[in-house]
Formats: sequence, C-alpha cells, structure tokens
Amino acid sequence: MAKILVTGATGGLGKVVVETLLQTVSPSQLAVLARDLAKAADLQAQGVAVHQGDYDDYASLTAAFAGVEKVFLVSSNDLPNRVRQHTNVINAAKEAGVQHVVYTSFQRKTEDGSSAAAFIAEAHLATEKLLETSGLTYTILKNALYLEVLPLFMGPVLETGTLYLPAGDGRCAYASRTDLGVAGARVLTTPGHENQRYDLAGTESLSFADIAQLLSELSGKKIAYVSPTAEEFGTQLMSAGVPAGAIQMTSGFSVAIEQGEFDFPSPTLTKLLGHAPESARDFLKKAYQL
Ligand SMILES: NC(=O)c1ccc[n+]([C@@H]2O[C@H](COP(=O)([O-])OP(=O)(O)OC[C@H]3O[C@@H](n4cnc5c(N)ncnc54)[C@H](OP(=O)(O)O)[C@@H]3O)[C@@H](O)[C@H]2O)c1
Repeated sequence: MAKILVTGATGGLGKVVVETLLQTVSPSQLAVLARDLAKAADLQAQGVAVHQGDYDDYASLTAAFAGVEKVFLVSSNDLPNRVRQHTNVINAAKEAGVQHVVYTSFQRKTEDGSSAAAFIAEAHLATEKLLETSGLTYTILKNALYLEVLPLFMGPVLETGTLYLPAGDGRCAYASRTDLGVAGARVLTTPGHENQRYDLAGTESLSFADIAQLLSELSGKKIAYVSPTAEEFGTQLMSAGVPAGAIQMTSGFSVAIEQGEFDFPSPTLTKLLGHAPESARDFLKKAYQL
C-alpha cells in the first residue's frame, strides 16, 4: 500500500515532487491522484499507483487515500471553487485515516483582504485554517511567487526593450517551481516538519528595476523599467488587445508586489534543498536563452 500520495502530479509542481520522491522512495510506496489517467501513464509505467480522482468528487478522494500516511495537497488552480475542493480533500484525508497533509500555500503580507492579491490569498487562508483545526498533522508551505511567472508578466520584453508593469519599487523573493517541488519532496521524506509553516522563497528580493538590469546585462541590450499606474497599464494593454482576465491577473500581482505582499526572502528553501536556490539571473538566462 502506498504511503505517500501526491495530488496535482500531472501539473508542473506535483511532477517535480514525484520525480524527486522517486530518487529515494520505492515506487511501491508512492501514489498519485490524477483527473486524467492518461496524463499519469508514465508514472504508472514506473510502478507508482495512479488513482483517478477529482477534488470535486469526494468518493474518489476517500478511495484514493485508503491506507495512505501522507498526502501532498497541491492547491487547485480553479480559483472560484478551490475552498470547497480543498475542504473535500482535507475531510476525505481525515475520513480515510491519513496522518499528515502537506499543503502548497502562498506567501502574503496582509490577511485582511486589502491586498491586490487577496483574490488568490483568501482560499489559501481558508485552507490553512481548515488544516490547523482538522486534527490532522499538517505542514504549510508558503510558496513564493514562481520565477516561471516572470516571462508571462513581462511579455516580449527583449523585443520591446521596455519592462512595463505597475509594480513601482516593490520587491519579491521569487523561487523556481522546480526548487519548490524538490523542497516539497524533502518535507515528505525527512522528519521534523509536523505542524510547521515554512516561507519557501529565494534568499534575496528583487524589484523590476533589478530584473530589467539583469536582462540588460544578460542580453547586452538596454531594457528600461517603466511603472505606470494600474489604470494606465489596463488601458494600454486593453488597446493592444490583451484579454481582460490576463490584464487583471498581471495587474493584481504587480500591484501586490508593489505593496510588498511577496517580499519574504528566507533561508528555509536553501536548508531544505541543501544548496542555494536557482537565482533570478540563472532562470532568466535559461528562459530567454541568453
Ligand atoms: N506560487 C506561484 O507563483 C503559483 C503560480 C501558479 C499557480 N500556483 C498554485 O500552485 C499550484 C501548483 O502549481 P502548478 O504550476 O503545478 O500548477 P498546474 O501546472 O496548473 O497544476 C495544477 C495541478 O492540479 C490539478 N488539479 C486542478 N484541479 C483539480 C481537481 N479539481 N482535482 C484534481 N486535481 C486537480 C491539475 O490536474 P490536471 O492535470 O488534470 O489539470 C494539475 O495536476 C496551482 O494549482 C496553483 O494553485 C502558484
């Protein structure tokens, strides 16, 4: 019977968690939850138990969790429904006799709804409260904003020569999704993480002026950072035909960065990895093939 089950294993973070676990844990001790079995066929071929399941389908969760000791709960990407979905996972874990749930939460400074990223934070806050009062052993991983979001936020910055985001002088201690996944696996396989909350982030905070400077150095081309107001940003991108949802997401995160919502450099990720996390410089070099 599998001892550790990872949800979201068909996504970017969960995939790294499972790949890292497979380096030290027998596949017979591992299971994953997948909505689409075909997406987890490679894991099944390696001997990992693959359970078809959905956060919206309670019975599929209790069936998948039978005999499991630890569940790694990857937060859902279905923003309007995820509190209900996470509630299902936590209740099912409890009913099935799971001992320990590790949850991928998110960094934030304010918890009173005033942040421009409150639309992201609220489900994490609710899930953390549920876990803390569930009677289950828990570990809350307050993951940093991924380095991987930078190219999505910045657009074709090397072509335009301008990094245009309404983030002012705000700073953020980004971390790569790969490092966060490896750290998650370490939390599952090493002792001492019971009922702990960890800020998992890079060791330094960068502003977009710093990132423009890094891109300038790496590309040999002057990249300027321009910070409009959120209103100017919205108007400008709308006139360029960018979909409203993408504008809202990028603008919300940028303003939250200006508010200092993700400015939490921390040594914990380094400790769990056993080495320095991937730097923004190395990430940008790779992402932009510089
Ligand atoms: N820290 C950050 O900067 C950041 C950025 C983006 C997202 N996030 C959060 O962190 C999570 C993990 O990131 P990621 O990059 O791995 O996201 P991702 O690649 O979108 O993966 C999300 C995973 O969750 C699974 N999932 C979604 N809804 C589900 C449901 N109803 N039932 C069962 N499984 C479900 C997906 O399954 P399918 O393969 O079937 O879709 C997928 O495996 C995201 O879901 C989101 O909550 C954090």
